[in-house]
Amino acid sequence: MGQELRTEQLSLDFLRVCEAAAIAAARTMGQGDRKYSDHVAVEAMRDVMYTVPMHGRIVIGEGERDEAPMLYIGEEVGHRAEADGVCEEHPEVDIAVDPLEGTNLCALGANNAIAVLAAAERGGLLNAPDIYMDKIVVGPSSRGAVDIDAPVKENLKNIARRLGRDIEDLTVIVLDRKRHKKLIDEVRAAGARIRLISDGDLSAGISAAVAGTNIHAVMGIGGAPEGVITAAAMRCLNGEIQARLVFDPDRLGVDRDKIPDREKVLGRLKEMGISNPDKVYDTNDLAPGKKIIFAATGVTDGSLLRGVRFFGAGKRTHSLVMTTEARLIRFIDTVHVEGGLDTVIRF
Ligand code: FBP
Repeated sequence: MGQELRTEQLSLDFLRVCEAAAIAAARTMGQGDRKYSDHVAVEAMRDVMYTVPMHGRIVIGEGERDEAPMLYIGEEVGHRAEADGVCEEHPEVDIAVDPLEGTNLCALGANNAIAVLAAAERGGLLNAPDIYMDKIVVGPSSRGAVDIDAPVKENLKNIARRLGRDIEDLTVIVLDRKRHKKLIDEVRAAGARIRLISDGDLSAGISAAVAGTNIHAVMGIGGAPEGVITAAAMRCLNGEIQARLVFDPDRLGVDRDKIPDREKVLGRLKEMGISNPDKVYDTNDLAPGKKIIFAATGVTDGSLLRGVRFFGAGKRTHSLVMTTEARLIRFIDTVHVEGGLDTVIRF
């Protein structure tokens, strides 16, 4: 049994972890090689993760042990894990990582790529499978006003009412995918504005929970792992996510042979402790932890975070770090100085 999880210090350690991943990925920006961008982010994130004094366990990561050599699900990370045999009393932490959310965005130099992770005490994050998830994400003002099973127009009406504006003044983010044709038609018919994004529904979800970003909701089907990390952010920001796993090829608009067979998915879900595949998850189901930590660093410029900037004597990163415990939402602008003592730091 490890020490009690102290989120204040650990959140700053996780800041270092995200900054390292973001810097490594940002160096590859625009190179057109999404796999390489992801690879360097994973490597950098993992290296720093092993310096953090904790008994960490990856619950959402780069894949199963046999398909991912680094940050695979179940990998034990942290200084404690490396100090083989040394039984230091470090806290036990479950960690969900996405070292590069928006691999294509980074590879193309497009906006909103981030390095991100969420952490909690053991069992504090749903061990979600790497399949699709239908989601609706809203900010604090609209918490309790939406229902994933309600018609799109009704949800938009309720969000608009809570925000004291017309539906026409709302902006909804939707991933630009064939599977979202009906959803997009319905949002349009309701009169709301849409921002179609090529990737990155996680950073979009975080932006929806921060007033002033002009993003009022995120709707549609994206990755389940991203859904859990979004939920951790919602716990800190008082926003809301509702979600349901999706593996029906018709809903995904893909051929049956393009996704794992239903029985196989159901078996995998059972192994992961999910007996009702149709369950509607709320924020607390996805991220039930008492002590949640969330950290993200911008890789490319985005609605909420600036991307990494490189200059002669170092680099500058912009991050969001928050916890449910301290109720501190930190936007952290870090200058990583590499030059000598005469380096000039700009405001
Ligand atoms: P990657 O960072 O792994 O490239 O994922 C980006 C992303 O757009 C997520 O934000 C989103 O949840 C998911 O992919 C959507 O999946 P798909 O591209 O298969 O529709």
